[in-house]
Amino acid sequence: MVDAGDLLLIAVDIAREAGELARRRRTEGVAVAATKSTLADIVTEADREVEDLIRARLAAVRPGDGFLGEESGAERGTTGITWVVDPIDGTVNYAYGIPHYAVSIAAVAGEPEPATWTAQAGVVFSPAVDELFRAARGEGAWLGERRLAVSQATDAGALLATGFGYDPATHGPDLERVRRVMPLARDLRRAGAASLDLAYVAAGRLDGYFERGLHPWDHAAGGLLVTEAGGLIGGAPDGAPGRQMTIAAGPDLFSRLREVIAT
Ligand code: IPD
Repeated sequence: MVDAGDLLLIAVDIAREAGELARRRRTEGVAVAATKSTLADIVTEADREVEDLIRARLAAVRPGDGFLGEESGAERGTTGITWVVDPIDGTVNYAYGIPHYAVSIAAVAGEPEPATWTAQAGVVFSPAVDELFRAARGEGAWLGERRLAVSQATDAGALLATGFGYDPATHGPDLERVRRVMPLARDLRRAGAASLDLAYVAAGRLDGYFERGLHPWDHAAGGLLVTEAGGLIGGAPDGAPGRQMTIAAGPDLFSRLREVIAT
């Protein structure tokens, strides 16, 4: 049986090294290496280099584990543990010199599918401000020495965050959803890094977050931070977070958001 705390220690060390590499590359100037699904969906040389580093480090300390990374895809393992990795979440911010980006690393048990996996450990590291959010299953979510707790917001005056997927065809429904949710909101943020949106929900810096179109690497680590901080993460109208919808918040606001978003 793998110890979640041991997986967390590995994730913390590797996230720090990876984040430092990303930060260094940023100061050297960033070139967009390619566009992926649309013009907005970019990848930089640094994304690839950072993912290669994380993958190599994991293979050295945990040979046999599976891997699911944003840039290099999936490899099945033999141990029942899969590492779900976004080397630079917030790539558009990163490419434009906005210091709001993060390395996101999670270890999940079971099939690497959000509906069935059990997240064991998760780290979201924001190198530009040196904030490392971490959680191991059953041991709470932490930022340094501070144990994190989601806010107790209910259904009015909430500070919410969202994101807009890269597919222009979905922008109409995305904006319509924002229109429906706004009566619950004190204000709305679109900060550009889903893993940090989730870490901020865990820390109570945001009351809630919703976005359509996320991939597993966007929410695997941040989702564990939220649940270990006493919050909920899921889809709409029900089920697991994922491509169709991801909602995260404290329990009361989560239900309210789910209700509004599902209608
Ligand atoms: C993106 C960011 C963004 C979210 C997108 C994600 P990437 O991840 O998290 O905030 O709106 O849906 O794909 O491409 O920067 O790793």
